[in-house]
Amino acid sequence: MSRVLVTGGAGFIGSHVADALLQRGHPVTVLDDLSGGDRDNVPAAASFVHGSVVDAPLVDRLCAEHKFDTIVHLAAYAAEGLSHFIKRFNYTNNVIGSVTLLNAAINTGVRRFVFTSSIAVYGTHADLPLTEETPVHPEDSYGIAKHAVELELKACRDLFGLEYVVFRPHNVYGPRQNIGDPYRNVIGIFMNQILQGKPMTIFGDGAQSRAFSYIDDVAPVIAESVDGDAFLNDVFNLGADQPYTLNQLAAAVADAMGAAPNVVHLAPRSEVQHAYASHAKVRGVSGRRDETPLADGLSRMAAWVRRHGARTGARFEGIEILRNLPAAWRV
Ligand code: UD1
Repeated sequence: MSRVLVTGGAGFIGSHVADALLQRGHPVTVLDDLSGGDRDNVPAAASFVHGSVVDAPLVDRLCAEHKFDTIVHLAAYAAEGLSHFIKRFNYTNNVIGSVTLLNAAINTGVRRFVFTSSIAVYGTHADLPLTEETPVHPEDSYGIAKHAVELELKACRDLFGLEYVVFRPHNVYGPRQNIGDPYRNVIGIFMNQILQGKPMTIFGDGAQSRAFSYIDDVAPVIAESVDGDAFLNDVFNLGADQPYTLNQLAAAVADAMGAAPNVVHLAPRSEVQHAYASHAKVRGVSGRRDETPLADGLSRMAAWVRRHGARTGARFEGIEILRNLPAAWRV
């Protein structure tokens, strides 16, 4: 049994990871500032602390009091496309927040730090799928921040002996996703638009591709890495193998929601066109093998979304650069 701190545990992926850790018998404390997450997502059996990973006195105090064995760090501002336009905010949350946790981890004897990076670290590659051997050259502030933390973890391992595990998930979807967030998670955006009788908005021609990963194929693997040594001091892509274009996705989401495939094409966003990854490496160490087919995952998420209804997410206050901001994000 490991005393685990889950940052971002009121969020979508984090709350599922907290559930999976509790199922494995670990006591869990959740730290979350509720900026994107929801208090109701936190499992009843976990203790909850409302606060930010950027708040160094709070993080130091929490780690000193609880003497965590493991930190599973998921708290982040994860709107990759928007990150170009909120650089200070992005690096404060995603780099300084992570380093604040690392300081406390080293000073209070945490043994293992599990970090959710992203396939955003790879940038554009003609040779797909991306493997862990693919060179990293992130193209946006979010990916750069994630990679900086990956490098920092390696340095902490070498100097302080802090064990690390890095996961690079991608395009995760499922129940508890914040479908009101207008800046990210296209499946939630499409479902929310359908509930409101609006067309699904596709950036560009819709030929860009991603592999959409169902939460139940992702969260249990992150939780598994807290136990044993199989994942130690290594980096793993995590998620679904099968890529789909955005046009294919829109048709599949409409189908799952029982709606007409009503789409509108917007000007393209600055982004990697094709991004999907190989998961041979993680399959080599994880006991989990199955991949939820897209239609099944979408229908489970659609059932949850219908129960919870449409959401109106808050617009981001304090965009730092307006130049070249996609028009859809200006309103
Ligand atoms: C990125 C990362 C992913 C990470 C996620 C975190 C890559 C390749 N992916 O996802 O690892 O988990 O950030 O948030 O680095 N789209 C539309 N219409 C919309 C919204 C989005 O067409 O209204 C399209 C985008 O242009 C994009 C795709 O949907 O091609 C996915 O977008 P999004 O859900 O924002 O995630 P990524 O930027 O791919």
